[in-house]
Amino acid sequence: MQLILAADKNWAIGKDGDLLVSLPGDMKFFRKTTSGKTVVMGRATLESLPGKKALPKRRNIVMTTRTNYFPEGCEIVHSIDELMELLGENTDDVLVMGGAKVYEELLPYCDTCWITKIDAEFPADRHFRNLDADEDFEVTWESEPMEENGIGYRFLKYERKND
Ligand SMILES: NC(=O)c1ccc[n+]([C@@H]2O[C@H](COP(=O)([O-])OP(=O)(O)OC[C@H]3O[C@@H](n4cnc5c(N)ncnc54)[C@H](OP(=O)(O)O)[C@@H]3O)[C@@H](O)[C@H]2O)c1
Repeated sequence: MQLILAADKNWAIGKDGDLLVSLPGDMKFFRKTTSGKTVVMGRATLESLPGKKALPKRRNIVMTTRTNYFPEGCEIVHSIDELMELLGENTDDVLVMGGAKVYEELLPYCDTCWITKIDAEFPADRHFRNLDADEDFEVTWESEPMEENGIGYRFLKYERKND
């Protein structure tokens, strides 16, 4: 399983149910990386998407404890066990796309993390862990620096170290 997120200098990822900043180049990278694949998200993240709707051209799986929640175009799971059962053996093309709660719960199942590192600091109420301080992961690829609307960022690939 893989994970994809955008974080600022403090590993902040969200505020008031929304992203910290809109970066068209990051959205494009997200679309390219997830297109044709399976995305897994928490209910809060689904509700933060435009129209609170499933993402097109992807299999959408949403985690919730609610038993009466049936958003259009989404498959629903109520636990990690149910998620794993639904996904089956091959989880290579599965991308965890947030938010904070789901990232933290599913990171132990992820071998690759695609991180957009934003070179700025924003007020925030949701964070991801500092992967640079996590001895289980290392950076194996880094893009050229990019800039949009005066905000610098770059894409990094973190992979789980083989013991
Ligand atoms: N920077 C980024 O790349 C990025 C990406 C995605 C999201 N975000 C941001 O992250 C924030 C949302 O994150 P969040 O932590 O508040 O919410 P979240 O992780 O999107 O969703 C949390 C919800 O998912 C369900 N859930 C989680 N684990 C579950 C489990 N094991 N079993 C059953 N249901 C489970 C629960 O839904 P119920 O309450 O329905 O039970 C829980 O309340 C927003 O600000 C969003 O914009 C940022």
